[in-house]
Amino acid sequence: MNEKIKKILSKKNNTKIICLTSYSKNFSEILDDYTDIILVGDSLGSVLYSFDSTKKVSLDMMIEHSKSVRRGVKKSLMVVDMPYKTYRNKTEALKNAKKIIKFSKADAVKLEGGKEIIKIIEHLRRNKINVMGHLGILPQSQKGKFRYKGQTILEKKNLLRDAKLLQKIGVFSIVLECIETNLAKKITKELKIPTIGIGSSVNCDGQVLVTDDLIGLNLVNIKFVKRFSDVRRFIKLAIKKFSRDVKNKKYPSSKHSY
Ligand code: KIV
Repeated sequence: MNEKIKKILSKKNNTKIICLTSYSKNFSEILDDYTDIILVGDSLGSVLYSFDSTKKVSLDMMIEHSKSVRRGVKKSLMVVDMPYKTYRNKTEALKNAKKIIKFSKADAVKLEGGKEIIKIIEHLRRNKINVMGHLGILPQSQKGKFRYKGQTILEKKNLLRDAKLLQKIGVFSIVLECIETNLAKKITKELKIPTIGIGSSVNCDGQVLVTDDLIGLNLVNIKFVKRFSDVRRFIKLAIKKFSRDVKNKKYPSSKHSY
């Protein structure tokens, strides 16, 4: 088993697992000292490209961003999202997962869904592809108004069933997105593999967020997002200083000239 995955598994019931998104080298270089997992999320579609849905993200986009991210990752486990319509059947999924791993040297891929894609994930596992699961809100198949998951008895039952199915076929961890607090706790308790929450309370084994959201670079108003910094303010300040110095002919000075 991949040593980094072993390390992630050993954190279950021990220490919290830190997972953050990165779409480029400069970010992954900064994150790598503080993260266990760096995720090249297809959230890059909305965060970087202003797409109204992650469905518009292509395999090539994911691969190009992953290649850049890879250059900044030394210690963390690197996971890449398989984008929409790239894993509709076993053959397509394996071909595309291999392509992502070949070009990005990622450690694992992440796929959204439970029972409905179980045979596909099983096929990837049989072919030694490391897989992270993703349950709850599934942005690639999200329709209509936002509604957190686990609100009905049936939904609760199905989510727990799906989590166990994913564990059984060998995913090493599962992202739980916007799952009701007590259900997240129950799933986490009943699984041997770690759960990584986003909008799923403190009861998961780890936490993931979109880095651009938590540093205040991407401005979103989402209940589960806490803004830990206001990076836009620092960028604006630097740009203002640059502009002022250029206008006042203070920059470039002789120090910055040949
Ligand atoms: O695409 C993404 O960034 C994700 C995380 C938010 C879990 O899937």
